[in-house]
Amino acid sequence: MSESIEALFRPRSVAVVGASRQPGKIGYEILANIVRYGFKGKVYPINPRADRILGLRAYPSLSSVKDSVDLVVVSVPAKYTVDVMDEAGEVGAKAAAVIASGFKEVGNVELERELVKRARKHGIRVLGPNIFGVVYTPSRLNASFGPTNVIPGQIAFITQSGALGIALMGMTIVERIGISAIVSIGNKADIDDSDLLQYFVDDPNTKVILIYLEGVEDGKRFVSIAQEVTRKKPIIVIKAGRTEVGAKAVASHTGSLAGNVVIYSTAFKQAGILQARTVEEAFDWARAISYLPEYKGGPLVVVTNGGGAGVLATDTLAESGVRLKAPPKSLVQEVRNFLPSFASLGNPIDVTGMISNEGYVRALVAALKNPDVGAVLGIYCQTAVTDPTVIASMLIKEVKFMGGLPKPLVLTLIGGEECYWAITKLNANGIPAYSMPEKAASVMAAIINYERSRNAVCKRLEELKAIYH
Ligand code: COA
Repeated sequence: MSESIEALFRPRSVAVVGASRQPGKIGYEILANIVRYGFKGKVYPINPRADRILGLRAYPSLSSVKDSVDLVVVSVPAKYTVDVMDEAGEVGAKAAAVIASGFKEVGNVELERELVKRARKHGIRVLGPNIFGVVYTPSRLNASFGPTNVIPGQIAFITQSGALGIALMGMTIVERIGISAIVSIGNKADIDDSDLLQYFVDDPNTKVILIYLEGVEDGKRFVSIAQEVTRKKPIIVIKAGRTEVGAKAVASHTGSLAGNVVIYSTAFKQAGILQARTVEEAFDWARAISYLPEYKGGPLVVVTNGGGAGVLATDTLAESGVRLKAPPKSLVQEVRNFLPSFASLGNPIDVTGMISNEGYVRALVAALKNPDVGAVLGIYCQTAVTDPTVIASMLIKEVKFMGGLPKPLVLTLIGGEECYWAITKLNANGIPAYSMPEKAASVMAAIINYERSRNAVCKRLEELKAIYH
């Protein structure tokens, strides 16, 4: 594993060059986030005009820090950043996160080249420039000017867009989506998506990698690394610039080439990458994957108390390439014993609108425990004879009793305020739940499609190995 990339996420010490004395300025807010989020290593604010900032001793320059510094966050204007690399070299820095804008994205290609050249001369890898920073929750490192209280979890989020990335950081906090890392990758002058994939594939704190991507420079390397990664953990991509006008917008944003949409989609498929259509969909998938046990194949069973919602979910599944088959006979035999005589025992299993809280949960648990079932999609429509909050509590208890979910379970609870609270409670207990059937079905399809594409990638790589050995 690269020592430099390791220093980006697990530095023993961090310096902020351009740590401002003034709240509201970027250099101040980055330092404040590092302090407030509880980074345990050493922190060095660098500012020639300050003695102390946020209670910490400030240093006039990096070279006046008589200690080694693993990570340097650079928050001074672009024209000063190159010289900062020489000082960073003096203190043995391994990585530099360069916040400043004003490089390739506005035509300053030479300055960007010089920045990387100077950094590399000292063995420093550069993140950025034109970024909002880096977060790694296991190290309690929030070296960004985004929100502070990122929720720890197992999703690594790499974003080529800064402002959108910061906004989505905020969204993850509101939605209680757990994060292992957030990396603003900006102009990708040095460290790129492929470098980060190589880190996260072996990161035990990351279960799924989500990338907001505008373009990649070295597509061949990206695909070859990604297909090694997807054998071990899923990569979800939101590809911006899918249209001609969108591609033009990308060029003026980070200076990347958005490329041909078909080429990208084909490359993603080849690498086993899941391509989400929207940001919401990408986070829905990522959250569920980060909670759930691995899907190991086998039939998906849908359990619903509402026929219409079941049909909508079936449509979404089919549109995503997942076709429902008849449920295992052993499951049908079991649920027949306690479901109303007019329940439909196909797939979806329609337990009917007259089912009680207990009956609905019992059907779900039967599917979860049945060894012939691979995954379960639970669809619940609020009725006067049931209470979604009670269903949520009962289900959480049952899952605890089972020692955790034995297979993927995704739920949708459609209805009023009680459904909202039930969904919140289920998610807080590691059971992914959504307010609409299409969302839950899309999540389940992503889980199944990941397993399929991973198998296809593994098979292709094995075939290639057989040819070349
Ligand atoms: N070493 C250390 N500190 C230095 C310094 C140096 N060589 N030169 C200046 N400083 C100090 C300044 O005195 C200032 O501190 P003060 O506010 O206490 O006086 C602080 O560092 C910041 O310098 P300043 O010149 O005020 O810069 P700034 O804060 O206005 O802007 C950037 C710096 C990097 C934020 C700005 O140039 C920029 O690029 N902004 C865009 C960032 C962005 O959007 N990135 C992409 C996000 S997605």
